[in-house]
Amino acid sequence: MNPTRLAVIGAGAIGRKHIDVIQHASDATLVALADPSEQARELATELGVAWFADVEEMLDEIRPDGVINATPNTLHVPCALACVTRGIPVLVEKPVAESPERARELVDAALAHNVPVLVGHHRRHNALTAAAKTLIDSGKLGNIVAVSAHWLLQKPDDYFDVSWRREPGAGPLLVNLVHDIDLMRYLLGEIEEVQAMASSETRGFANEDSAVVNMRFARGTLGSAVLSDCSVSPWSWEMNSAENPIYAHTPENCYLISGTLGALAIPQMRWWRYGEKSGWHEPLISETLHIDAIDPFILQLNHFIAVIRGEATPIIDAADALRSLEVIDEIRQAI
Ligand SMILES: NC(=O)c1ccc[n+]([C@@H]2O[C@H](COP(=O)([O-])OP(=O)(O)OC[C@H]3O[C@@H](n4cnc5c(N)ncnc54)[C@H](O)[C@@H]3O)[C@@H](O)[C@H]2O)c1
Repeated sequence: MNPTRLAVIGAGAIGRKHIDVIQHASDATLVALADPSEQARELATELGVAWFADVEEMLDEIRPDGVINATPNTLHVPCALACVTRGIPVLVEKPVAESPERARELVDAALAHNVPVLVGHHRRHNALTAAAKTLIDSGKLGNIVAVSAHWLLQKPDDYFDVSWRREPGAGPLLVNLVHDIDLMRYLLGEIEEVQAMASSETRGFANEDSAVVNMRFARGTLGSAVLSDCSVSPWSWEMNSAENPIYAHTPENCYLISGTLGALAIPQMRWWRYGEKSGWHEPLISETLHIDAIDPFILQLNHFIAVIRGEATPIIDAADALRSLEVIDEIRQAI
């Protein structure tokens, strides 16, 4: 089979990660970049692929088999619509849109044109996620009573030199917590109710820099999430999961899941339970599940290629990602 011809829109921080993964794939080839920046033009020259400042011009001239859309949040929907209306499958980075209203436009267009949209919640492709889901779904943790999620880290100050990251439509609720919310929905089911508080005091931008959230899941689980992009801490998926070498690996846990029969600390995958007798006078037994690490961005690309070839349906489509975005919107309203 001929390699799948892919184009990337937005060759910034995460766009370059996608480009790197495509460059190493045997069944895909990078055919074009669309990004008006000078750095993107230079990168296209370096890689020997076509460069376009304009997205629609690229789509019409190159007609790629699929597109990865790694633009700033507010461009996700317009760039994805340009693909979908031309019948081109698209992998849209998360969050699927900057608001549920915008996301619904994409959900409707994907349905109307019958074109698959995969959303870049790449943690769903991680083998750690699959192992956690298998354990939870097996019932070995019992009924899940509570989950505690931490996303506490310090983004370097120069991360915010890029203006869109300081402006409304970005912020760690939309850019980061949406990953954790999506993962919790995937592992524990739908979130029905939220309470929340936020602060922008430390960075002083239009967006929050820190927040706390309480959640009630449809299955009865209670949860809390704490996030901050300006705090020194070892507890975040980025630093704990070792899935992306650009983040310093710190082997700690960022999700603590506790059920009536056992507990799981993710991503170190330590599973706690009692022996014959249970209760706080008894010693807990623990076991570490060993998971082979494969870069989830590679698994995500393999899945996207299968989606383009009609061999798979998106494991997270625009409608599913919309629900994660709606939870973020409910958190913002609660704030
Ligand atoms: N899945 C993940 O783990 C992950 C990680 C980081 C970022 N993201 C998401 O990816 C998106 C991009 O984030 P980033 O940090 O890479 O941003 P970035 O600012 O580093 O890159 C964005 C790129 O888009 C380009 N761009 C701007 N306007 C454009 C246009 N009209 N047409 C084409 N290109 C245009 C910019 O020139 C820039 O190169 C965000 O939505 C973010 O939430 C996802």
